[in-house]
Parts: sequence; structure tokens; C-alpha cells
Amino acid sequence: MSGADLDLIDLTDPHTFQRDDLHAMWRAFRARGPAHWHHPRGDVPGFWVLPRYADALAVYRDAEHFSSEGGTVLTTLLAGGDSAAGKMLEVTDGVRHREIKAVMQRSFSPRVISRTTERVRERTRQLIAEVAGAGAFDFAARVGEELPINTIADLMDLPTADRPMLLRCNKLALSSDTGTTTPLESIAARNEILLYFADLVAARRRDPGDDVVSALAHATVNGAPLREDEVVYNCYSLIIGGDESSRVAATGTVLALAGHRDQWQALLDGSVAVEAATEEALRWTTPAMHFGRRAATDVTVAGVDISAGDIVTLWNTSANFDETEFPEPELFRLGRRPNRHLALGHGPHFCLGAFLGRAELSALLGCLRELVGGIEVTGPPRRIYSNFLFGYSSLPVEFRAR
Ligand code: HEM
Repeated sequence: MSGADLDLIDLTDPHTFQRDDLHAMWRAFRARGPAHWHHPRGDVPGFWVLPRYADALAVYRDAEHFSSEGGTVLTTLLAGGDSAAGKMLEVTDGVRHREIKAVMQRSFSPRVISRTTERVRERTRQLIAEVAGAGAFDFAARVGEELPINTIADLMDLPTADRPMLLRCNKLALSSDTGTTTPLESIAARNEILLYFADLVAARRRDPGDDVVSALAHATVNGAPLREDEVVYNCYSLIIGGDESSRVAATGTVLALAGHRDQWQALLDGSVAVEAATEEALRWTTPAMHFGRRAATDVTVAGVDISAGDIVTLWNTSANFDETEFPEPELFRLGRRPNRHLALGHGPHFCLGAFLGRAELSALLGCLRELVGGIEVTGPPRRIYSNFLFGYSSLPVEFRAR
């Protein structure tokens, strides 16, 4: 792919990520240089694209020169900002970010959520037992969509009846199953989630329970409670963050196992540990293709001058296949070590739900090993339309019982 070809690629367009040659595309971006200027198109501003591992890592680490408050995904960065800036963890910098993160980490520490991880294993085992040996089914709909939404909803103590609505809104907020979702429908979905939590937070302030929403609603920082909008925005972030990436990682993992029989065999015969397999599944699927920042000052990255205010995007989906960090990156190797992938980010904004996300994938891999003898893909998988989320909204498969 020539430099001219790369200049024509529109990374803001969800259709770009339907291509079959994405690995080759990113290989060409990495070979071309450390920072690629994505030209403005119409009224869409230009932005920097960092495809290499070392540079993405450096920017993730450097919250002093790179702010999250102007948005962290292309949708908000290109729109000129995020209405949750300074309130929601993901789009808050500095001291307030550390304060809110400390409050939220209390609810997501391995010790606190050990009961939840036990429940995750039970639910996963039950779902896999139902589908193993029962003919063809859609893994994305039947299993992928059931696990993470119910896990995060259990932690937040959300009524079972509300969960399908939240799943539907999550699926429209930053991506689309069909490619026909309009920007207005996405905004409406995001607003529906916010309105839902505005009511719920008010109710939990009055009548707290033993759940993450109540914990946030009653948390204090230096003696002062979190503001109502801070609680609502962070609930929004938990329901989306808790569902979306884990959901598509699960489906992508099953597709990868079906396509790599030697690796599936290694999982089955126990020659690779589930923990290592979980990391390779995260690297291979890399659900969050990019995150981004706005340069807070003039700054140089890999010898390239970036001006204050510029949008800088870090492409995890390329960094995780960078040949300078991962030998033979396009091989799916469950026992890969070291495996310092960026699927969960890095630095101060490192994923709050990393422990939970890993527990969900480990439960899936462990239950597949225990209950499934073989995986066959029985129809064409359907890719999600998004410039942010990579994965599949449909994966027809058959599981042979073990
Ligand atoms: C942050 C990916 C699961 C909640 C992040 C970031 C990444 C990521 C790459 C860094 C964003 C940045 O630097 O701007 C993933 C993946 C997951 C996953 C791949 C599953 C496979 C979860 C779960 C939750 C969650 C289960 C909820 C419990 C969050 C939150 C942040 C975050 C709140 C913001 C942290 C901060 O700004 O300090 N995630 N995530 N994620 N994630 Fe996850």
C-alpha cells in the first residue's frame, strides 16, 4: 500500500473497518512512519494517527502533555469535546481524575468483586452447557450478549426487566450492528442511558443498597459527596464500559479459536494456561481500536512536532500487532509471553474494569475447555460498524459437546 493509498483511507468512516486487509493496512501505516496526519475532510478536522506500539505507550503514560478532557474517542474529539469532561472518569484529568478513580476502584478491587467473579463463572458454565451439543446457534446473541451486561447490571443492582433496553442503547451508542444507525439515533441512545441513571441515582441517594450505584451516590472525597452529574456520568461509563468491550472480546475469541485448531487443541489439552490465553485473546481481539487525546501543550512524539490543541489518536489495533513488540504478531498464540498488549490501555487511564474483563474472558475459556469438544463456524460472521469498536455482532457456530 503506497503513501498515496494510505492518505485516501478515512479512519473516521466505520466502513473502513469492514475491510479484509486491516492487518496489511496497519502494517503499511507502521512502516510509513510514527505519526500520520489524517487530513481534514469537509468539516471534519484533521488529526494525528499513531500506529506504533512505543508511541501509543508513551502518550498513554503522559497525561501532562495529553489531555483526556477534550474527548477520548474520535466521535467526541472531532465534535470538539465531550459534555462529560471533568465529570466522567474517562474524560477527566489530574487531581479530580485520581479522586474519582480512587472512589470507583474501591468497588472494582479483586477482593470486593470476588463474589461477582464466582457468579460470572456459574452463568458462563450454564450458558455454555445449554448450547454445547445443541446444534447451530448465534454465539454473539445467545452467549456474548448475555454475559457482560448481566455482570455489570448485577454489580449495579439493575432490575432484570431494564437490561434489554440498556443493551440495545449500548449497542447504538458508539457502534452499529447494521451500518444504518444515524448520528441522531446514537445521541438518543446515549441520552436514554443518562436519563435512566439520573432517575436511578436519585432513588439510590434516598434509599441506598449494597451496589456500585449506591456506593458512588454516597461516596465522599475530602468529606464532600460526588456531585449528582458526576455519579450519573460514571454510571453511564460503567454500563457501556462494562458491557461493550467484554461482549465483543468474547465473540472474537470464539471466532479465533474456531479458526486456529492447533491453539484450540492446546487449550483443550491444558498445554496453555487460561491466564496466558486470556491475554492473547485480549491482544488478538483488541475491542477498543483506538483511544485519543488532545495535546495540552506543544510536544514532540517520536521526532514529530505536535501543536497544542491537536487531536492525537492511538491505534491499539495496530500497536498490538507491532512487530517490534510482538514477534510474529499475526500469529494467534495462546501461550504468548511476554504479552504486554495495550487492549486495556496503559497509564493513569488504564481500564478500571480490567480485573472484571479478564475474569469474564477467563471464565469463557475455562468453560469452553471443560464443556466443548469442537467449534465449527456455520455461517458468515457479521462485523460491527464502528470506527471505535472492533468485533462481531453475529457469529453462527456449533459447539460439539465434550
Ligand atoms: C478504560 C478497554 C472492560 C470500565 C479503558 C481503556 C481501555 C479499555 C483501552 C483506556 C481508555 C483511555 O486510556 O482513554 C477495555 C476492554 C475491556 C474493558 C478491552 C474488556 C475486555 C471494562 C469493564 C469495565 C470498564 C468490564 C467496567 C467495570 C472502564 C472505565 C475506564 C476504562 C470506567 C476509564 C478509566 C479511567 O479513565 O481511568 N478500558 N475495558 N472496562 N474502562 Fe475498560
